[in-house]
Amino acid sequence: MTAEYQVHGAVAVITLNNPPVNGMGLVTRTAAVKGIQQALADDAVKAIVITGAGKAFSGGADIKEFNTPKALAEPSLHTLIATAESATKPVVAAIHTVCMGGGLELSLGCHYRVALPGAQIALPEVKLGLLPGAGGTQRLPRVLGLEPALNMIVSGNPVSSEKLPALFDEIFAADADIVRSAVAFAEKIADLRPLPKVRDRKVDYPNHEAFLQFSRNTVKAMAGPFPAPLECVETVAASVTMKFDDGVKFERERFMHLIQTTESKALRHAFFAERVASKVPDVPADTPVRAIKSAAVIGAGMMGGGIAMNFLNAGIPVKLLETRQEALDKGIATIRKNYESSLKKGKLTQEKLDQRMGLLSGTLSYDDIGQADIVVEAVFEELAVKETVFRKLDEVMKPGAILATNTSTLDVDKIAAFTKRPQDVIGTHFFSPANVMKLLEIVRGKETGKDVLATALALSKKLKKTGVVSGVCDGFIGNRMIEQYSRQAGFLLEEGALPEQVDKAAEKFGFAMGPFRMGDLAGNDIGWAIRKRRYVEKPEISYSKTADLLCEMGRYGQKTGGGWYDYQAGDRKAYPNEAVNAMIVRHSADLGIARRKISDEEIVERLVYALVNEGALILEEGIALRASDIDMVYLTGYGFPLHRGGPMFYADTVGLPNVLAAMNKYAKGHQGQAWRPAPLLLKLAEEGKLFNS
Ligand code: 3HC
Repeated sequence: MTAEYQVHGAVAVITLNNPPVNGMGLVTRTAAVKGIQQALADDAVKAIVITGAGKAFSGGADIKEFNTPKALAEPSLHTLIATAESATKPVVAAIHTVCMGGGLELSLGCHYRVALPGAQIALPEVKLGLLPGAGGTQRLPRVLGLEPALNMIVSGNPVSSEKLPALFDEIFAADADIVRSAVAFAEKIADLRPLPKVRDRKVDYPNHEAFLQFSRNTVKAMAGPFPAPLECVETVAASVTMKFDDGVKFERERFMHLIQTTESKALRHAFFAERVASKVPDVPADTPVRAIKSAAVIGAGMMGGGIAMNFLNAGIPVKLLETRQEALDKGIATIRKNYESSLKKGKLTQEKLDQRMGLLSGTLSYDDIGQADIVVEAVFEELAVKETVFRKLDEVMKPGAILATNTSTLDVDKIAAFTKRPQDVIGTHFFSPANVMKLLEIVRGKETGKDVLATALALSKKLKKTGVVSGVCDGFIGNRMIEQYSRQAGFLLEEGALPEQVDKAAEKFGFAMGPFRMGDLAGNDIGWAIRKRRYVEKPEISYSKTADLLCEMGRYGQKTGGGWYDYQAGDRKAYPNEAVNAMIVRHSADLGIARRKISDEEIVERLVYALVNEGALILEEGIALRASDIDMVYLTGYGFPLHRGGPMFYADTVGLPNVLAAMNKYAKGHQGQAWRPAPLLLKLAEEGKLFNS
């Protein structure tokens, strides 16, 4: 029973009760239908109120049930809505806090809607690659009008209840008791007949064809690889061009089509992956967290400045520490410049800018940062430099302060061992630009305290980041995997491809940027420094020397005016460089390789499967807790195409035996030893299982 039934005088109140957000799963739907039937059968009841318990009216259909038999089992959402709409006694939806998707569709099937102000009203299905599938595309335009309804359905964005007067028969005072007020409303309208039904209304929009055509063109241009937004337009169009029942039938058909698409499955995967990433099996949800009311950041360079901005944006005061006044001034000026640029774009008010800058102070002395609740170190990526910093932090920081390192590759356990409080040390690996990128890799050292980990996870939410936990290994989840991707990119150059072809193939697949454009943006010298260290430590690992040769030419990337490509001032476009391409061809000849034509398909497979195979090793070693965490890292930190759901999800959709077959094929080619399938991949492929089961 996930809906409660109570009678208040002559009004029956059905309260959806399926925490956390009253998703309309089968059990809830069944209980709600029963409630309506019970109320109709009771002569003492004159009207019915439907509301939701806890923190939502309803978050919509239960997305955990999608693609399971429960989703279609009767009573369906359609049946529930039809039961409410055809009831012979008035049904009132009493809305508060959150009313989304199927929840809003249910309320549109009710005869009346009342609400508290501030309730978030949305048809967000498009964000899951879907369209409202329980009459929403037909009823919302009948209530709000064509244009506002189309905007809500195509964007999926929430609108506050008080901004939608056409949707509600009454909006109560903010401090009203929703049930008591709704019951009073129901008593008032209990005897009114006929019962108003949204389905009986008409959508009037003069010259609707021109508007719809304009919408199709605009939405098509914005939708990218996702089919749902355009399907939303077509189904909303049906609210004008078709009879109500035909429109609902058409909507259902398009919904059933979309729910099977990989794009929708990928979006739903990402929705749950983001939420589950904050759950760590041995760190229960009630683990106490440490209060983070102040922060310090060591290093005012690009990374340190970006990290500081995250805290400032969240209202947490920051002390920025540098060794030289000049560097400190430059760091603070850059932060101000970034905020001023947001101000110019209208994304920030002057008041907010002043507020944020007011929370920032600079210092050259460690003595000034000792009282911070957390300190994040963002200094040069070298263990000896980190050692100096952490020994100093151990001296000056108050007991209980969290000591975080922004290292992207170094051993967090070694860094923790520079202190006498390894339980307080954790990795917080931000991604550049740190004030923009969503990903925060949270690196759990072997001695990191559970409360420190729980605090870092809570902090990531406060900073509006997607926190993903990684164990300690060289490069953690993201950079360890990208190394294999970069290796393949290098081998592809040796065998016959040029940077432009590799990048174009990767970008056509959906990557925000191909590997070589990415290298030019990040700085090829960074990878060079890492390779010098890594391949001295691991001489058995082969890699293409092409990128080293590029660096030897002094071509570090955009910052030196050119890398794999040339760049022109005021333009981020990449122009192929003849000398670089000649160097690549010469290098193949030096290696005795006869260059061949490589297909885009091979390029994409080799880049992506290299990620997948390393991801499988990472999963097997317990560095990542689950495959979906790896997907989150790639979706939020490395520009992996969202519509493909992340590398591990993508491999699942391709089929693991197919991935394996391709890897075996490449194992017979140039540098084939790089393709040693991870035992987990072999096992899952053999058992017909998936990474994300
Ligand atoms: N079904 C099942 N579970 C849901 C859910 C849903 N519709 N919406 C949220 N949840 C779960 C989340 O997975 C999470 O679970 P967890 O605690 O186990 O991790 C929990 O509810 C809380 O979610 P959030 O962390 O997102 O909590 P917030 O308070 O920040 O946000 C929310 C609440 C605004 C409802 C947000 O969760 C949200 O946007 N949910 C998606 C709503 C949605 O897309 N609804 C449409 C569903 S499709 C539909 O209705 C089809 C119909 O047209 C036929």
